[in-house]
Amino acid sequence: MMRLDKFLCETGFGTRSQVKSLLKKGLVQVNGETVKRPEQKVEETKDQVVCGDREAVYAPFLYLMLHKPAGVVSATEDARERTVLDLLEPKDRRDVFPVGRLDKDTEGLLLLTSDGELAHRLLSPKKHVDKIYYARVAGQVTPKEAEQFREGLEIGEKEPTLPAELEIVESGEISEVLVTIQEGKFHQVKRMFEAVGCRVIYLKRLCMGSLSLDETLQAGAYRQLTDEEIQALKDLTGLVSESSGRRN
Ligand code: URA
Repeated sequence: MMRLDKFLCETGFGTRSQVKSLLKKGLVQVNGETVKRPEQKVEETKDQVVCGDREAVYAPFLYLMLHKPAGVVSATEDARERTVLDLLEPKDRRDVFPVGRLDKDTEGLLLLTSDGELAHRLLSPKKHVDKIYYARVAGQVTPKEAEQFREGLEIGEKEPTLPAELEIVESGEISEVLVTIQEGKFHQVKRMFEAVGCRVIYLKRLCMGSLSLDETLQAGAYRQLTDEEIQALKDLTGLVSESSGRRN
């Protein structure tokens, strides 16, 4: 059983406040009866809920945060390698796919979802969604490299990289840094360091847009995103507002 307003949100009728207004206007019927109370409980797979001219069908998207360990590939299937899907319980594998890729040896935050529209928006080069990585790098990283990252680097693509932020945590023979990039080109962080004469020896993603890796998750573990985390990603990518609360 689920509250009617939550049910309508999860079936694509908008945010909690948009849904409340639909209810207030008397546009929602449960089993043929108009219902205005957002707290009314519905049985997700049994009750018939109609909003305006559309039935609310319960097939909720899954949103999972995985702490990807090194040694698995970011794919749904692979002939030889273990994939991130192999880390999920069978019930959670339904239709999910990784939102972007981390290299086999990269650890950290990986979002898996069945929501293709959200994934598309998070990965769209136009959206410039920030990704933050912690890296250990062979070679001294100084403010000069930070300036080069800010200005953009030639990494063998048509265009130089977009401005990236490089925060130096420790500078030495082995340096520790936090890197923020707005793109997601193949091996991008590694290639950016190569371009300034350094080599990444450890890489971990900490954040993607508004989503941060839950540090209580051990490498290899995962959990569902909270409603707030899902909403923040949708807000960031303009998902609800651009489709005026309706997703078909
Ligand atoms: N940049 C890389 O080089 N590798 C990753 O896995 C992610 C970003």
